Amino acid sequence: MAETLVRAATTADLPRIHAIYNDAVLTTTATWDYEPWPWEQRLEWWAEHEHDPTCPVFVATVDGEVAGFSYLSHFRQKIGYRFTREDTVYVDPALHRGGLGTTLVAAVIEAARAQGMRAVIGGIVSTNEGSLRLHERMGFVETARLPAVGYKFGKWLDLVFVQYTFPEFTPTG
Ligand SMILES: CC(C)(COP(=O)(O)OP(=O)(O)OC[C@H]1O[C@@H](n2cnc3c(N)ncnc32)[C@H](O)[C@@H]1OP(=O)(O)O)[C@@H](O)C(=O)NCCC(=O)NCCS
Repeated sequence: MAETLVRAATTADLPRIHAIYNDAVLTTTATWDYEPWPWEQRLEWWAEHEHDPTCPVFVATVDGEVAGFSYLSHFRQKIGYRFTREDTVYVDPALHRGGLGTTLVAAVIEAARAQGMRAVIGGIVSTNEGSLRLHERMGFVETARLPAVGYKFGKWLDLVFVQYTFPEFTPTG
């Protein structure tokens, strides 16, 4: 039986993260990029995440091979948004419906909780039934629906925001 594990990503995981993402760029509307990322862009992305505990990257491995990844990023840059993060999750299509997405989203939720966040937002194209269901099962609720704000593969796309909300607190400082 295959051994699966979710752990913090390392630099050595970048080629697989890069390949999984760039495949999704070319074949899905999960991301609204049109062109695969150049390697330099992946390195810049990693530099933004590697040393920021509030924006961690996780990988899921199956028998030691990276099969998916998730991460937190800033939802918007202004300081008032500092207790909110956006989550991203991608799993190798060959391994969908094996529970990896669930464990990867669980990892980012727990990281956000540990970092004292108030909310995690997922931005999901309305036709992405799998991601919508996965997020709903993890406790996210739909909080906004933006019609026709994206365009890819010759079609207008609606964006659904789903939100996981942690208990209210009063920030100090
Ligand atoms: C969305 C995604 C991350 C789900 O990963 P996964 O490993 O297949 O997810 P899981 O196996 O943990 O699925 C958990 C639950 O989510 C729901 N789900 C997942 N994929 C689904 C699909 N294609 N259709 C309907 N429900 C789905 C199901 O309820 C599933 O539970 P079940 O298999 O017991 O029925 C994966 O499909 C993916 O990488 N898609 C391409 C990239 C993407 O869409 N990323 C999200 C961008 S917002």
